[in-house]
Amino acid sequence: MDSIVIHGGNRLNGSIPVSGAKNSAIKLMAASILTSEPIRLTNMPRLADTRFLGALLREFGIEVTESDGADGQQTVFDAREIKSTFAPYDLVRQMRASFNVLGPLLARTGEAKVSLPGGCTIGARPVDLHLMALEAMGAKIELDEGYVTASVPNGLQGAEIEFPFVSVGATEHALLAAVMANGTTVLKRAAREPEIGDLARCLISMGAKIEGLDTDELVITGVTSLKGTDWSVIPDRIEMGSYAVAAAMAGGEVRLTKGRGDLIVALTELMRQAGVEIVEEANGDYIVRRDPTLRLKAVNATTEIYPGFATDLQAQFMTLMTLAEGESVIQEKIFENRFMHAPELMRLGADITVANGEARVRGVESLRGAPVMATDLRASMSLVIAGLVAEGETTVGRVYHLDRGFERMEEKLGACGADVRRVKGEAQEH
Ligand code: EPZ
Repeated sequence: MDSIVIHGGNRLNGSIPVSGAKNSAIKLMAASILTSEPIRLTNMPRLADTRFLGALLREFGIEVTESDGADGQQTVFDAREIKSTFAPYDLVRQMRASFNVLGPLLARTGEAKVSLPGGCTIGARPVDLHLMALEAMGAKIELDEGYVTASVPNGLQGAEIEFPFVSVGATEHALLAAVMANGTTVLKRAAREPEIGDLARCLISMGAKIEGLDTDELVITGVTSLKGTDWSVIPDRIEMGSYAVAAAMAGGEVRLTKGRGDLIVALTELMRQAGVEIVEEANGDYIVRRDPTLRLKAVNATTEIYPGFATDLQAQFMTLMTLAEGESVIQEKIFENRFMHAPELMRLGADITVANGEARVRGVESLRGAPVMATDLRASMSLVIAGLVAEGETTVGRVYHLDRGFERMEEKLGACGADVRRVKGEAQEH
């Protein structure tokens, strides 16, 4: 297995281009199932997660062609013919969002057999709301031996669906099915995450009829067919926020380009309260500046649904607080087990206690390098960020987590002066 080795202490100075959003790209890829015409996605990140989903789409007979064109990295999905509607466990378990092919397969072909994704390190993460929405739209669903077998004998029907709480995945899944259902679907308490907005806008460009964009109530009038489109994936707000925290942690001045500051307002606010200088320029560049001789102040943070502070930035922000002056209380409200980075940060000298869904981080003067293990995708980034300032060498193991969602991380940080390199290990099943 590869690991990332970091020698801490270098300031970060330079510029980092933000990639296309993983969590938008994989939703847009699932939308390609809905049409027999090609979908061309530009600003496509090249990540393990997009590769996993690409492999699954190929199983269905969809042609997936990657290239680097004038518009940068792009992928064309051509689902002229769906040859299989079976999503095997081996492919779905690699990335749980693959489960969301179920709705579009039902919409396009009327049937599908898709593996249940199983649990994951940040929580149980059931898919009951996904199934509830599809059943409300007329799907007949059976669960057997870890698989969902579904069919829509009378086609998908529009329905009024009120989610009991906000789920990004269930909103996305219901939307992907509703665009081709008979009649009108209303999704109440829908997620408003920017990646849902990106998916809805892409679907509209394919001919879908969706109202209420970026609100918590989506009204979808089903159409009988959708056409191909060209779509540019929105910038990755989590990658952008992660590098913003990295720059704030290490000190120096980093310009983030090709991102969208308006998608990370809650993080910007927290970092400013902590004493980080952030300048947003008219051309969209986002500049993070910090004099490393001045200590940051501890601030409290609570994860919330969008536009609140993102759970996917909680681990990185916790790292920033490990060196701040005072105590920061960080509450996790989205996932029940998303503090697994805390014991790893403690190996580097952080002072953290976790109890009852909150972490208390008492700032220390310095961190010291040590071998640590990534436990999930965003946690891996929090450890890399800690390594940037820890004295000596930090080795982050289980880097396959990081490769799921951060494109060319070593290159991007290295270009700003960080001493971060990948050490190749033996390939290993995970
Ligand atoms: C999406 O996950 C993101 N993944 C996550 O990013 C992100 O952390 C999360 O939204 C919250 O913003 C993708 O977009 C691919 P949810 P998702 O459904 O859709 C519970 C990353 O690092 N729930 O909004 O799975 C669930 O267990 C990942 O890129 C049910 O109980 O999140 C959780 O506690 C990690 N039943 C809460 O709802 C359901 O049927 C919110 O989950 C569905 C969800």
